[in-house]
Amino acid sequence: MMIGEGAEARIYSEWVFGKELLVKERHAKKYRIPQLDLSIRRWRTRNEARIMSALYEAGIRVPRIIALGEFTIYMEKLEGRLMKDSKPVRGTALQCGRMLAQMHNIGIVHGDFTPANIIVCNGSVHAIDFGLSGFSKDSEERALDMLLMKRSLTRDMYAAFEMAYSKFSKDQKEVLKRLAEIELRGRYQSRTIA
Ligand SMILES: Nc1ncnc2c1ncn2[C@@H]1O[C@H](COP(=O)(O)OP(=O)(O)O)[C@@H](O)[C@H]1O
Ligand SMILES: [Mg+2]
Repeated sequence: MMIGEGAEARIYSEWVFGKELLVKERHAKKYRIPQLDLSIRRWRTRNEARIMSALYEAGIRVPRIIALGEFTIYMEKLEGRLMKDSKPVRGTALQCGRMLAQMHNIGIVHGDFTPANIIVCNGSVHAIDFGLSGFSKDSEERALDMLLMKRSLTRDMYAAFEMAYSKFSKDQKEVLKRLAEIELRGRYQSRTIA
């Protein structure tokens, strides 16, 4: 069953051995040079699966990876609602802050950490969409994960998010300092995504 078609991937669900899986398949982009398009899709697919597996093993809530194809990831299907479509609840913001801190603590940055890439199921927060994520301890990249949330949440929700992040992050001082610098120079606007 088709679930959706995003900018770079088709999302559908498929029953396999009595279990409904979520399939994310990166389709060809016509505006890219074909050879480059193949390698970008192949790389993002492997990267996403690798990062999600690492997070799952670390006990951070992400869908479990079931199988991997060249451009296709088969993963656990979560029942829930996107955070962007659910009521702004303080507990959700707190969980997101803790989750981002835990990711950063094990050396992973998300790259697109917004309420559109968070699923709330039974009150518990799960992160998805790791195609642009990576292994990095760079404060700039960590601060950009924070900034995306800051620009998506209400003031109160962001305050809760930042409080939880600060409580659980090992490097919160450096990250928040960098976040303030980025906001001052406004450089995030020039960050481009391929
Ligand atoms: N594991 C999952 N369980 C349930 N729904 C999912 C899952 N992964 C993705 N989705 C749904 O598919 C949509 C697109 O997936 P996402 O990984 O964010 O791809 P895109 O790069 O297109 O944004 C999500 O917004 C969500 O609604
Ligand atoms: Mg997404």
